[in-house]
Amino acid sequence: MNDLQFRLFENESEELITFMLNNRWEFHSDPNPTREEIKRGIQNGWYKNDRQTFWVESSGQKMGLIIIHDFSDTIPLFDLRLSENYRGRGLGKACVKWLTNYLFQLSDKKIRIEAYTRADNYPMRKTLWNCGYVKEGYMRNAWENKDGTISDSVCYAIIRKDWENNVSTPIRLNEVIF
Ligand SMILES: CC(C)(COP(=O)(O)OP(=O)(O)OC[C@H]1O[C@@H](n2cnc3c(N)ncnc32)[C@H](O)[C@@H]1OP(=O)(O)O)[C@@H](O)C(=O)NCCC(=O)NCCS
Repeated sequence: MNDLQFRLFENESEELITFMLNNRWEFHSDPNPTREEIKRGIQNGWYKNDRQTFWVESSGQKMGLIIIHDFSDTIPLFDLRLSENYRGRGLGKACVKWLTNYLFQLSDKKIRIEAYTRADNYPMRKTLWNCGYVKEGYMRNAWENKDGTISDSVCYAIIRKDWENNVSTPIRLNEVIF
């Protein structure tokens, strides 16, 4: 998609609530947050306090949301949510590539960018892999779902040096056995 745009979320609370309510978030802890919960999140600064939130748009159409957490930290992390209508066409890859370039080009020289996802979220895992993120950790029983079930979680990250050199440095997890 050529005309993809990333626009900072201002105060479009109703649009954000509608976006969240109109889609199911199968791989998030809460797949169906209520209007009240989303509203409370906005009021409590979930989308702004040390965070930057971007709409993913094309021709004014809202296709997704990127939430960058720990924005002032040298090691930020992010959440990406595409509307159901726009999943399954590789748009996630364009979003992750954009936010990676955006964060590494900031003046405070981010060291690395992290992304955690539920272990069964294969579309997200493959998207991260496709964007040069390296699988660094597999956490057993680390993801609590709202329905009381517990899932495994996986951590991916990209480091500045790899981004600059367009390479993927392998991790040394198995260099020693313990
Ligand atoms: C996760 C998300 C960003 C992925 O973006 P997307 O553009 O929809 O991704 P796609 O469905 O095109 O899939 C990306 C890749 O995963 C692969 N894939 C998808 N489902 C798969 C599966 N079940 N098993 C193996 N591979 C799979 C695709 O083939 C594609 O690989 P390729 O590009 O190398 O051919 C998007 O689906 C989304 O927003 N989902 C809901 C919110 C969410 O779960 N966000 C993650 C928060 S951590």
